[in-house]
Amino acid sequence: MRDDGDLMVAEDLILRALRGFFRGRTMLVTGASSGIGYDIALVLAGLGVKAVLVARRRVKLDELASAIRHKAGHALVLTADISRRQQVQEVVARALEEIGHIDILINCAGILEPGSVENMDPQSFQRMLNVNVLGTLHTIQAVLPSMRQAGSGHIVNIGSLAGRRGIPRLGGYSATKFALVGLTEALRVELFDSGVHIALVMPGVVDTPMIRRNAQSPLEGRLTEMLPPMPVRWVTWAVIMALTLRLAEVDVPPGAAVVEKLAALFPGVTDAALAIGNRLREWAASGTRPQEQ
Ligand SMILES: NC(=O)c1ccc[n+]([C@@H]2O[C@H](COP(=O)([O-])OP(=O)(O)OC[C@H]3O[C@@H](n4cnc5c(N)ncnc54)[C@H](OP(=O)(O)O)[C@@H]3O)[C@@H](O)[C@H]2O)c1
Repeated sequence: MRDDGDLMVAEDLILRALRGFFRGRTMLVTGASSGIGYDIALVLAGLGVKAVLVARRRVKLDELASAIRHKAGHALVLTADISRRQQVQEVVARALEEIGHIDILINCAGILEPGSVENMDPQSFQRMLNVNVLGTLHTIQAVLPSMRQAGSGHIVNIGSLAGRRGIPRLGGYSATKFALVGLTEALRVELFDSGVHIALVMPGVVDTPMIRRNAQSPLEGRLTEMLPPMPVRWVTWAVIMALTLRLAEVDVPPGAAVVEKLAALFPGVTDAALAIGNRLREWAASGTRPQEQ
């Protein structure tokens, strides 16, 4: 039987090994003002990575930068709307000026606007495409030349399990994440042997403001309490695994890839299971029983 002491020693050893790996490296994290991006930036900066924090809300980025500096880390705050190509290019140029080289690019900025495909507002879909797909493309294209020149670098794109299987009420979001998966997989092959490594991290439902904003009613909120979303730190660990072990893809939770492959083999059965889940969710959101709708 292991006791807490053994676990703490093991954790300490892992953290030491990770510090050795990360110390002195530099990273640029988009979407660092909230949720997953905030946690990734905080943890990696704590392991000695110099951080460039990018998002639109300066106040939130400043808060994170203070937390990082408080632990003797290094953080540079740069605001940008990643859907604006020019802004992204300026931010990356400034980051390169300040820190010399970007070793790690974490593409985490993203938005989710829920709604059925049937009633989808094309402008809402366009907004998600602009951030989730084009915004990520802008940052990759701005950072990649310097990585190619250095013959090294790591890019991690935060996808979603909704980017492997369409989910009701998330059709537009799912489509943008499918697009992100396609871009990443194609680029991974284009970068083969270049020294630049690109990974996909594919989370399921994670406890962040994005998810909390989309809980539609107190009852639905209670449903979320019964089936709680994953802690954000799980995604951070997935990113650390992708970086240290040079993995092409890490799903969160682990094993989701197997379920996803099985689901893809039986699309009709998967549809039925998701349809039942969707009815229950609609019921929870409206506060009525399914047969009353
Ligand atoms: N939470 C989940 O269950 C889940 C599951 C799978 C995948 N993901 C993905 O994980 C990533 C992070 O999501 P999250 O859950 O952490 O959401 P979140 O808490 O809402 O954070 C989203 C981040 O994206 C930034 N952002 C949004 N639009 C931007 C823009 N135009 N330019 C620059 N930054 C922008 C936001 O910063 P500003 O508002 O300050 O600009 C914020 O920092 C997203 O790509 C999301 O699709 C989330």
